[in-house]
Amino acid sequence: MSEIFKRTDMCGTLTSADIGRDVVLNGWIQKRRDLGSLIFCDMRDRTGIVQIVFDDKIPKELFEQANRLRSEFTAGVSGRVAERKSKNPEIPTGDIEIFVSDLVIYSEAETPPIYIKDGDNVDENLRLRYRYLDLRKHEMQESLAFRHKVTKFARDYFDSQGFLDVETPILIKPTPEGARDYLVPSRISKGCFYALPQSPQMYKQLLMVGGADRYFQIAKCFRDEDLRADRQPEFTQIDMEMSFVDVDDVIGIQEGFLKGLFKEVMGVDIRTPLRRMAYDEAMERFGSDKPDLRFGFELKKLNEKVADCGFRVFTDALAAGGDVRGICIKDGAGFSRKDIDKFQEKIRSFGAKGLVWMKLGADGISSSVNKFFDEDQLRDIAEVFSASEGDLILIVADRPSVVFDSLGFLRRHIAGMMGLLDDRQYELLWIVDFPLFEYNEEEERYTAKHHPFTSPKPEDVDRLESDPGSVKAQAYDIVMNGVELGGGSIRIHDRELQARMFKALNIPDDEAERKFGFLMEAFRYGTPPHGGIAYGLDRVVMLLSGKSSIREVIAFPKNQAAQCMVSNAPSAAGPEQLEELGLKLEKEQ
Ligand code: AMO
Ligand code: AMP
Repeated sequence: MSEIFKRTDMCGTLTSADIGRDVVLNGWIQKRRDLGSLIFCDMRDRTGIVQIVFDDKIPKELFEQANRLRSEFTAGVSGRVAERKSKNPEIPTGDIEIFVSDLVIYSEAETPPIYIKDGDNVDENLRLRYRYLDLRKHEMQESLAFRHKVTKFARDYFDSQGFLDVETPILIKPTPEGARDYLVPSRISKGCFYALPQSPQMYKQLLMVGGADRYFQIAKCFRDEDLRADRQPEFTQIDMEMSFVDVDDVIGIQEGFLKGLFKEVMGVDIRTPLRRMAYDEAMERFGSDKPDLRFGFELKKLNEKVADCGFRVFTDALAAGGDVRGICIKDGAGFSRKDIDKFQEKIRSFGAKGLVWMKLGADGISSSVNKFFDEDQLRDIAEVFSASEGDLILIVADRPSVVFDSLGFLRRHIAGMMGLLDDRQYELLWIVDFPLFEYNEEEERYTAKHHPFTSPKPEDVDRLESDPGSVKAQAYDIVMNGVELGGGSIRIHDRELQARMFKALNIPDDEAERKFGFLMEAFRYGTPPHGGIAYGLDRVVMLLSGKSSIREVIAFPKNQAAQCMVSNAPSAAGPEQLEELGLKLEKEQ
């Protein structure tokens, strides 16, 4: 066993102010250049790299040992900080170097399967397979440190506001958040399963019944759903709940948090109160309940303009109760037919059957519907958008949900192509007045838009049974740059109302009892009015650090197939283990 050198400094923190100091460093050898009588190495630790030098003034054995150093060996050195002759302005420690007087090699390294280099364009699965090497990259270390800053600020802030950090269990009964559950078989109660929490939702409500008053947790959540750049099967929430509050109280606390967070980790001042936009307005104007407000291209409704136009695509959609809406892409007339075909292809996944386009050129309007509309009619439509020469108008006719999804997607997709998505611009807003229910066309029934514990707006309660589609919820989402950062609601704290809610959702009494009976029971014994919110921590960190995937801000994320590439989970269980759990597989996997 080699002696451990007691470190005095971190590599990346040394500056010309340290010239003349004797220092001890531990780290990895990033690279080594051998000039015969001189050996230069870059030594790296979490904070960065610094150049270390072995010259022929050091004892021969030491020099020979230095000759053995290779990339990714771990070593300790002691030496004196000196001014560097050929300075390297590319790195923070580029003005100095360390003349080594002692060296210990802790361990050797095989040639790593990935380069330890920022931005190296290697397949992501390979990075995830060797994540412990990937994490050595400076950008990944910065990412871990940034995430730490966010969680530290969250803990400090919510502590200062009287929130108690309470852990809630991981092996639980299913919590309804709308995704599939991960199930864990019980050995002791054979044939029974725990679910992993999709969120701490029901426990945090029980904590309010339990008098905790203000609860906070950085909580792991598990959802078996299809993965995307901003979704993981296991992710982290900054989760909280408060008693005796209304919507404004919850939002007020959150705005203090967001303002402080932006200042602390970004040095950015955000103006509060943040704007609030009703769900209906967000859909009408942006086709999305998480609108990106960094650019325009707002949706316009054309139903009235085209009511008598004679173009069947439009009139049929209207006759079937649908909408005709469009967006105007300022200076978008340069997009080619091929580009527009690609747009049309992309919105097929939302169910759109086509895309009408109009280009305003110097010599009139060209469009995909010239056969059906004369120039005056097209001008009339262009006027709705206040469009001018050089603009592109894109129109979709379909069911409202298809129209919103398609145009909501297109406005952001095209803004991205046009370089309008500045990741240093932070457009935060609250979306409020969500519908309480969402109509599920496949199942032909209403489901909860948020979750079944969300309280309706008091003025809408009367219509729970008669017109559920019109009932608005006391729910709010915090949205930034087209991403839902978090969401929450004021909860139902009244058993009667909760029972009406289950009825409206078509959840039979016995099922409600089986699934949520324990919460309903708790509500019998004096329940404070309460509400809360949860942020997706991974998404917050991703957006604030300008990353495009949450995998970049999670130490050990799952890949697109929900696998941990480092450990190879999930993996098969042995026959003894299955037997112990009372499980039988249908066929050999
Ligand atoms: P909700 O389901 O909206 O609310 O989740 C809150 C926030 O968690 C983040 N999030 C995710 N992040 C990464 N991967 C996922 N698969 C994923 N799913 C959700 C989002 C989202 O805004 N219990 C309620 C909160 C409450 O009512 O207090 C809840 O979980 O950023
Ligand atoms: P067609 O008559 O099929 O050539 O269609 C004329 C134009 O209408 C084309 O640009 C189609 O992409 C477009 N179109 C077809 N269906 C729809 C729809 N539901 N919404 C918007 N445009 C459509």
